Amino acid sequence: MSKRQIAYVCTDCGAEHNKWQGQCSECGVWNTLAEIVLKPARATSSKRRSGYTGTAAGTAGIHALTEVATYENPRTLTGIAELDRVLGGGLVQGSVVLVGGDPGIGKSTLLLQMLGALGDRLPGLYVTGEESLGQVAARGRRLGLTMGPLHGLAETCIERILEQAIQAQPKALVVDSIQTLWTEQLTAAPGSMSQVRETAAQLTRFAKETGTCIVLVGHVTKEGGIAGPRVLEHMVDAVLYFEGDSGSRFRVLRAFKNRFGAVNELGVFAMSDKGLREVPNPSAIFLSSHTGPTSGSAIMVTREGTRPLLVEVQALVDTSPLANPRRVLLGLEQNRLAMLLAVLHRHGGVSVYDQDVFINVVGGIRVQETAADLPVLLAVLSSLRDRPLRDKTVVFGEVGLSGEIRPVPNGEERLKEAATHGFVRAIVPRGNAPKKARFGSLEVLAVDRLADALETLL
Ligand code: TYD
Ligand code: MG
Repeated sequence: MSKRQIAYVCTDCGAEHNKWQGQCSECGVWNTLAEIVLKPARATSSKRRSGYTGTAAGTAGIHALTEVATYENPRTLTGIAELDRVLGGGLVQGSVVLVGGDPGIGKSTLLLQMLGALGDRLPGLYVTGEESLGQVAARGRRLGLTMGPLHGLAETCIERILEQAIQAQPKALVVDSIQTLWTEQLTAAPGSMSQVRETAAQLTRFAKETGTCIVLVGHVTKEGGIAGPRVLEHMVDAVLYFEGDSGSRFRVLRAFKNRFGAVNELGVFAMSDKGLREVPNPSAIFLSSHTGPTSGSAIMVTREGTRPLLVEVQALVDTSPLANPRRVLLGLEQNRLAMLLAVLHRHGGVSVYDQDVFINVVGGIRVQETAADLPVLLAVLSSLRDRPLRDKTVVFGEVGLSGEIRPVPNGEERLKEAATHGFVRAIVPRGNAPKKARFGSLEVLAVDRLADALETLL
C-alpha cells in the first residue's frame, strides 16, 4: 500500500505548497491554504474497469501542427443567441465551460433550456446531483422543451458518471453541480478542494478525449469567487458568471475567461414563468422609469463586450453621523470611488468628507470600465446639490488624477446608441466628440476637465 501524498493549495490564487503555512507565499493572503490529496493511500482500478484510460487529449508524441487533424465542425450554435454570443459563437467540441452564479439565479434552468435547444444536433445528458430526475423532467416539461433526444442521470460519483457517459455517448454533458461530485479515489467530502479539483480534472480529460462539450455548474461563495479552488478556473476553457438582482427579473451572463472568444461579452435574459427568455435589445432595460429629472441620477452608455448598453448610475449623498463616513458601491469597483472623490475635491472644489456616499447601478448589472467615472461624479454632485442633470442627457468618460477627462473606446458607437434611444444631449470627453457639435439628434458637449463637466450641471 503506497503512502498517501498531500499538498496544500491556496484557495485564492491556486498556488501549490508542500507544507502548510499561515500565509500563501505566492499571493500573500492569510489563512487560505487547504489540504488536497494528490495520491490516495489505496489506488482503485475503477478507471481500467470502465475502459476509460484517462490519458490527456489525443495521442502522445510530437506532431507537426499542420498535420494535426482538427474537428470538422468545431462549433455548434446552441440556438439561444444570447448564450452563443457569450460563448463566442456556440459550444466548441471538446471544451469545458464553467457556469457560476448565486443560488436561484437560473443556472439549472438555462442549461436545461440549452440542452433542449440543442436537441438532435448535440444529444445531451443532464447529470444532476442536486435535484431528482423527476424534478428535472418536470421542469423540462413546464419549460415546453422538446425532450426527445435529452437524457438525465441522477448520480454524484464521477467514476459511475463517466462509465455511463461512455456508454450513452452524449455530445453535450451538463453537470449540475461540480460541488456535489466525488471520486472513489479520495475520502474527502464532496465539495472539498480535493474532490472538486479531482472530479473536474477527470471531466476535463474526458471532454478532451471524447470531444464531448461539458458544461459544469459551480456555486459562488459570498466573496464572489466560484466555490472550490481557483485552480478550477485554470482547468476549464471558459468561465461564465450569471449575475443579476434577486429583486429584478433580468439576468446577465458574462464571460470572464474564454479560450474561444472575447471576454466581457454580455448576454441578457429575463426570467419568466416559462424559463429564461432572451432579451436581444437590452439597451434600455437598465434605466429606472422616472417621470421627470431626479437628482442623483446619471445615465451612461457602457460598452461591455461588443454592444453598447444604456445604464443608470444612482448616487445618494447624505450627511454622515459617523466619524468614518460610509462609501457603499453596488455594481462598480470599490476602490475607484475613493480616488474619484479625491479628484472631485482637488479639481472640482467639492468635498464630501463628512457625507455618506452610496452608489448603485440600476438593474443589478456590474460596470467594470472607466467610462463610468464621469457619470459617477456627476451623480454624486447632483445628489449633494439636490439638482438633477438635465433631462435626456447621457454622460461617459474616464476621469484622470489631474482632473482631466479622458476619452474612452468606441465613442461614436455609444453616441449612436444614445441617439437611437431618444436622448438629446451628451456630455463626453473632448477626444470622443465628433467634429461638429451635433451628432444626429444629439447635442454633444465636449469637456476637457472635470471643472467643465461640473459646470454643465450647474
Ligand atoms: P434555478 O435554475 O433552479 O437556479 P440555480 O440552478 O441557479 O440555483 O432557478 C430557480 C429560480 O428560477 C427559482 O427561484 C424560480 C425561478 N424560475 C422561474 O421564475 N421560472 C421558471 O420557469 C423556472 C424554471 C424557474
Ligand atoms: Mg440549480
